[in-house]
Amino acid sequence: MTKPYLIYGANGYTGELIAREATRRGQRPVLAGRNAEAVRVLATELGLEHRSFSLDDPSAADEALKGMAAVLHCAGPFVRTFQTMAEACLRARTHYLDVTGEIDVFESLAARDKDARAAGVMLLPGTGFDVVPTDCVAAHLKRRLPSATHLVLAFHSVGGLSRGTATTMVENVHRGGLVRRNGVLTPVPAAWKTRTVDFGRGPRTVVSIPWGDVSTAYHSTGIPNVEVYTTATGPLLLAMKASRLLRPVLGCSAVQSYLKKRVRSGAPGPNAEQRARGRTTVWGEVTDPAGRRASARLYGPEGYTFTMRTALAAVERVLAGAAPAGFQTPSKAYGPDFVLGVDGVTREDL
Ligand SMILES: NC(=O)c1ccc[n+]([C@@H]2O[C@H](COP(=O)([O-])OP(=O)(O)OC[C@H]3O[C@@H](n4cnc5c(N)ncnc54)[C@H](OP(=O)(O)O)[C@@H]3O)[C@@H](O)[C@H]2O)c1
Repeated sequence: MTKPYLIYGANGYTGELIAREATRRGQRPVLAGRNAEAVRVLATELGLEHRSFSLDDPSAADEALKGMAAVLHCAGPFVRTFQTMAEACLRARTHYLDVTGEIDVFESLAARDKDARAAGVMLLPGTGFDVVPTDCVAAHLKRRLPSATHLVLAFHSVGGLSRGTATTMVENVHRGGLVRRNGVLTPVPAAWKTRTVDFGRGPRTVVSIPWGDVSTAYHSTGIPNVEVYTTATGPLLLAMKASRLLRPVLGCSAVQSYLKKRVRSGAPGPNAEQRARGRTTVWGEVTDPAGRRASARLYGPEGYTFTMRTALAAVERVLAGAAPAGFQTPSKAYGPDFVLGVDGVTREDL
């Protein structure tokens, strides 16, 4: 490794998990964020260099990126943070990676593909649980059934949410659902469809959600019809359906601040014991017009542990010189089996 990389948002729940694990692996990332004191305290404890700058200041970002091989951007909701960082990366010719799951961010970065290629920069959003495992399952199924025209992905997650994830969900709760239909991102009602999926222990009810793969799976596989589902209990399903009627209310600033205040009063994220006990399962199925189908399941650790491991696996590839220029998805950059190199992950074809 010749140049260091920068973790921005290092004092957040996910950024800190990643910074600690990176240090444990013997890496020397530079820690950064807008909260100078919080970043300094963590960097001092871990014996790392640190920088603080606001994403409202592009020239400060330019200065901070000097000498960096890559940025692992962990400050979200990303719709408000990705632009300054990605633009600074393009100017500095520094590879950009993040842990977003936000469809608008994926699509905006995909639109910068040409500029990224010209700059020799890789733009790789979605290096966390959303979307590495699902994206790799999608690409694996496409490899098994190249004629596939429809992709359905579903996941079951045990472990809990971080404040940052909950805040991102609050900001999107009034926006309804999204699927990919004939190649086009198509709005649908929240909790539009339910179905059952067997994650290995019998059928469970799952509900459609606007997960990142609605954007990325199309870029990875070219499959034009994509739906993503997650497990939902009865009360959650009811709340999701009620959000259709409450859309205007949920989007108004007073309700948004109330919900975010509730989120801020909670724990930063699952603790070490919850993470150790948690687990995730991804299921995917592709079909083609002749009625052929292929499906697979992927088993992995709890979502934030998953994110920490996949994000660092991507960074390690970059530092080893594997950073294809342009907009990338995890499976486009590193192949459908990339996720299998991550500790605790297994896949079975059904
Ligand atoms: N794709 C996935 O699977 C996955 C997994 C984990 C997390 N995430 C996403 O990652 C994001 C962070 O999650 P988290 O759990 O780490 O949240 P968190 O604990 O709330 O931390 C958020 C971090 O982002 C920083 N930040 C937020 N807005 C900023 C802005 N406008 N400018 C600069 N810094 C900003 C915060 O800085 P301050 O401390 O100064 O506020 C903090 O460092 C969320 O969007 C979450 O959804 C995705």
